[in-house]
Amino acid sequence: MERRPLTVTIVGAGSTRTPALIGSLVNYRERFPLKKLILFDIDKSRIDVQEDYIRLTMQKYCPDVELIFTDDEDKAYIGMDYAFVQMRVGGFEMRSHDEKIPLKYGLVGQETCGPGGFAYGMRSIKPMIHMVNKIREFAPDAWILNYTNPAAIVGLALSKVFPHDDKILNMCDQPYSMIKSFAKILEVDMYDIEPRYFGLNHFGWFTKLYNSKTGEDLLPKLKNYLLDHEFKPFNAEQRDQSWLDTYKNVNRMMEFFPEYLPNTYLQYYFFADDIAKASNPEFTRAEEAKRGREKQVLDICKQAREQGSLEGVPLLIGEVHGNMMVEVAESIAFDLKKVFVIMGVNKGRDIIPNMPEDAFVEVAGELSKDGAKLYPYGEIKTFYKGLMENQHAYEKLTVEACLESNYQKALEALTLNRAVTKPEKARAVLDDLMEVNKDYWNLK
Ligand code: NAD
Ligand code: G6P
Ligand code: MN
Repeated sequence: MERRPLTVTIVGAGSTRTPALIGSLVNYRERFPLKKLILFDIDKSRIDVQEDYIRLTMQKYCPDVELIFTDDEDKAYIGMDYAFVQMRVGGFEMRSHDEKIPLKYGLVGQETCGPGGFAYGMRSIKPMIHMVNKIREFAPDAWILNYTNPAAIVGLALSKVFPHDDKILNMCDQPYSMIKSFAKILEVDMYDIEPRYFGLNHFGWFTKLYNSKTGEDLLPKLKNYLLDHEFKPFNAEQRDQSWLDTYKNVNRMMEFFPEYLPNTYLQYYFFADDIAKASNPEFTRAEEAKRGREKQVLDICKQAREQGSLEGVPLLIGEVHGNMMVEVAESIAFDLKKVFVIMGVNKGRDIIPNMPEDAFVEVAGELSKDGAKLYPYGEIKTFYKGLMENQHAYEKLTVEACLESNYQKALEALTLNRAVTKPEKARAVLDDLMEVNKDYWNLK
């Protein structure tokens, strides 16, 4: 298939993940050629500080690509083939609240799980719906590749509001990131590992890791290794202390439930109390990421801006998030049918027959010019079904609470969430979150 150069819009381009995504686009420029790159963010100041670095990098490696930096959504989607969406509604300030308010009640403080994920979901849903409507006005046939979190809730909401739009895809890079680490341990190329997986987003399990060259399932070998070796991330983006602690909890989860290999995010449900107790309410992941990734990226951008050149300035590469985004788009654009862990609706109960048909499940599947083809997983066992049905009910009530501004449904959602469970705490944390989020959402 001829690789026609494409027009991509990055939505939320002020993210400090963008320079590394540009590096991935540069590295993949032959495989995924660009015609035009539009960088859109509602907060122009966040793109402004990165603009020179991005312009200089693109001039050096992809001089023919037209660049547009804009905060005008009426200019963002014209002629667009792909949207790479990575917005954080409320920015880091609200992320910090998502993580800290639950800790006041002894509850897990995390941006995508527990009450923090709930609050973030409530903020993300409506701007995401607005964005899809805008995109469809200007680019009716474009692919919308969404990474905005909490992807479980955003994806479920979009599937309800746009049930016939098959060109919206919600993706998470954590399975991809974990596969990178598995590959290092197993001494194979990560692209030779073909996973089987089931769950909901940030709530799932690897069940097989096929070596696509030999057909061997490498999961037993990996499980064996993890019996007496600490699980460590082989992902430069996940080496801060909180991530090292997170990976170790995979070993701990497997001491109880050794059958499959759990996604790191399950730690927030199995070890909620311990994690809340060990958290520092003055310094959560928001500060860690700000002082780490954000500072490193902004310093590099500043150097390029002040010098007006790239001399001594490294090329940032998104070895997980950025690479995956480009590989996902490449597989669709050029009909490669590559296998990823993908989210989608359990329509007709085709994917997991013993889960509800509106569940937004996550399983292995392939990406082609026709979009996502999720591989049917089959029935899941009672333990996992129980956990997932509970989590699905939480997600569904959260989406309904947001779309209907319904306080009671929000209270039910939070009470169901395994990181909360007590109605007293659910109510207290809900009231507190609602107050802090009053510019974004309100419930009656
Ligand atoms: P960030 O805060 O650094 O950047 C997000 C940007 O989005 C900001 O510049 C902000 O101004 C912008 N924004 C906010 N609302 C917007 C809107 N309505 N339209 C356009 N832009 C808007 O955030 P980050 O930490 O880099 O993360 C970006 C997003 O990607 C988050 O949702 C994060 O959770 C998500 N993420 C997802 C995955 C995944 O696996 N799915 C991986 C990494 C990050
Ligand atoms: C992984 C998850 C994402 C999440 C990110 C947080 O990549 O899959 O959903 O947004 O981690 O990373 P951060 O460095 O911002 O804490
Ligand atoms: Mn994710």
